[in-house]
Amino acid sequence: MLETWLTTTLGLEVPILGAPMGGRAGGALAGEVSKAGGLGMLGAARYTTPEWIAAEAAVARERGGRVGIGLMTWSLDADDTLLAAAIAERPTLVSLSFGDPAPYVPRVHDAGILVASQVNTLDDLRVADRAGVDVIVAQGGEAGGHTGRIGTLPLLQELLDATDLPVLAAGGIGTGRGLAAVIAAGAQGAVIGTALLASPETVGPDYARTAVVDAGSADTVYTSVFDRARHQPWPERWGGRAIANDFTRDFHGTDVADEQLESGYDPADPRRGVVYAGEAVGLVHEARPAGDVVRRIAEDAERLLSRFA
Ligand SMILES: Cc1cc2nc3c(=O)[nH]c(=O)nc-3n(C[C@H](O)[C@H](O)[C@H](O)COP(=O)(O)O)c2cc1C
Repeated sequence: MLETWLTTTLGLEVPILGAPMGGRAGGALAGEVSKAGGLGMLGAARYTTPEWIAAEAAVARERGGRVGIGLMTWSLDADDTLLAAAIAERPTLVSLSFGDPAPYVPRVHDAGILVASQVNTLDDLRVADRAGVDVIVAQGGEAGGHTGRIGTLPLLQELLDATDLPVLAAGGIGTGRGLAAVIAAGAQGAVIGTALLASPETVGPDYARTAVVDAGSADTVYTSVFDRARHQPWPERWGGRAIANDFTRDFHGTDVADEQLESGYDPADPRRGVVYAGEAVGLVHEARPAGDVVRRIAEDAERLLSRFA
């Protein structure tokens, strides 16, 4: 068994967090990740509701016994209703990512809940450290969904040298090789998102799971066109990594107006709807149950690392 700060502090069997993924990670996915020994996290998107959080947390706990909840910090600055809903579920971990978590960390800690924060730069680390978070996630630019621009490995090395807080790695980790690499480097575990996106327990249209199986590692694009088309007011510094399709080929890198993006966008059409996914999409070759994916990654990493034990 791979024992790290993450497993001993959270009482897990494997050092893996199922990534909070807005629109894709609900209670079924999170529950199966937890059942496999990791901690599955609900992705509470800005447009979700307190009722959704309560219902999906219940599903996750029923399946897997424990759950984590991921919120988008910048969206709490306008309306923090979802924070209260998340705290009310007494999750094992709350992640506050994309923005300064300082105004919210004390409320989570007062409820006896640990706080993680995904960061994309060294400056972000300083902000999260000052805010008093318990664990840092180095989220590299190859990650699926919204992320920064620095690659996972350079960022992870930089952050490990700069903090005494436990650090997890996120972005591009889809097999035991990836998990072994970041643990050997000093990470206490990994946050895995894209590798789970073809699993039947994910939420979202069928075409999203098919697209993840079909796409290769060179088929993603880092872009803001989907946010602009869908009126998602993400701060400019965070683009999202998605599978390229006709929509991105038509509009990414152009200066068309948001109205044109909106009229060209169609969530019912795989060629024009968004499928957020990272470069690890090239490692997903079939739709496998999420629990199998998690167990396999952990077993393979343990075998690889045991060569040096
Ligand atoms: C579809 C999708 C949605 C995501 N939504 C969120 C989110 O709501 N909150 C968050 O903190 N991170 C979100 N992320 C980022 C993940 O938490 C995580 O950093 C990422 O999936 C790790 O990289 P990987 O995709 O290469 O495994 C999302 C990622 C994906 C693929």
